Amino acid sequence: MPLKKAVVDWDSLGFNLLKTRSMYSANCRVGENWENGSLIPYGNIELSPAAVVLNYGQGVFEGTKAFQTSDKRIVLFRIDKNAKRIAWSTERLCIPKLNPDFFIDAVFETVRDNLDFVPPYGKGSMYIRPIVWGVSPALGVGPATDYRFMIYVSPVGPYFKGGYKSLNLKIETNFHRAASKGIGNAKAIGNYSASLLPLVKAKKEGFDEVIYLDSISEDTIEEIGSANLFIYHDGVLKTPNVSGSILKGVTRDSVCKIASEILDIKVEETDISLSDLFEAKEVFCTGTAVQITSVGSITYKNDVYNYYREDLGPITKKLKKTLTKIQRGEIIDPFGWLSPVIT
Ligand SMILES: Cc1ncc(COP(=O)(O)O)c(C=O)c1O
Repeated sequence: MPLKKAVVDWDSLGFNLLKTRSMYSANCRVGENWENGSLIPYGNIELSPAAVVLNYGQGVFEGTKAFQTSDKRIVLFRIDKNAKRIAWSTERLCIPKLNPDFFIDAVFETVRDNLDFVPPYGKGSMYIRPIVWGVSPALGVGPATDYRFMIYVSPVGPYFKGGYKSLNLKIETNFHRAASKGIGNAKAIGNYSASLLPLVKAKKEGFDEVIYLDSISEDTIEEIGSANLFIYHDGVLKTPNVSGSILKGVTRDSVCKIASEILDIKVEETDISLSDLFEAKEVFCTGTAVQITSVGSITYKNDVYNYYREDLGPITKKLKKTLTKIQRGEIIDPFGWLSPVIT
């Protein structure tokens, strides 16, 4: 049967899963190599109800994007960083190592087979979701003996419902996302289940997301459930130091490099106290899915702190413009961050 061409309304993309043509799948048994790596039609998969991932959460994932550039190339953004991070995440969760070249080749193969699902230039991007799970059944707690690596993709638009409108955040005082020596610095599926109840409660109260505090002193900020945080304060761009509980974001690193090496802005990776946050001139969050999204207001207990609510702050605007232009190939990529999928 001929493969169907993508039929997508590019003007109404949100952050929702749209089925594409194919997905990647490979298997590995502990002590052996990853094998049977191939594309299969996108669809449901079969899993034992006793699979370790379903019972004990032995799963990690990545999130990266492909873009169409202004000169019609399809490019991946800093895919080597995702390869590095999944290597750490798998190690932390006792999952067999994915060789970076194997991981990157699999991403390329999946994107190439679904090229017509990459939104046209300026209309969005293709979100790429590599996942690795322990799939063999087990009753007692322990790592699986068999693993599955898959990649699916979806064309996407803005992550938040309001598009790129400034966010209304709440500082979470009842729940932590991750413990200081836990798995917060791995992209482990369990981190996201921990964030569901705080997110649902916050949304019911009219917020877009929550800011998590460090789980020991509760007086420094960490990140939001799906992105890293930045503040611009006293002429310095600051972001929390990545510790055991904060995910080392690819966008976070890109923003630090753009700020210090292109825009000549002083950058500090440091502890950020609540008072620094409240006194900041600009606040924004960063992530593959959220790109750079500005924060317009933050509620802490009964107090509300306002920042740039309608427009972006000047520093946020410059950083967002530069990152977007690099990703879309509108300016020269001085760091070599783009890898062409087709040229
Ligand atoms: C918890 C968390 N922090 C930060 C990020 C940002 O990381 P990156 O910029 O690599 O997407 C993400 C997601 O993507 C995330 O889920």
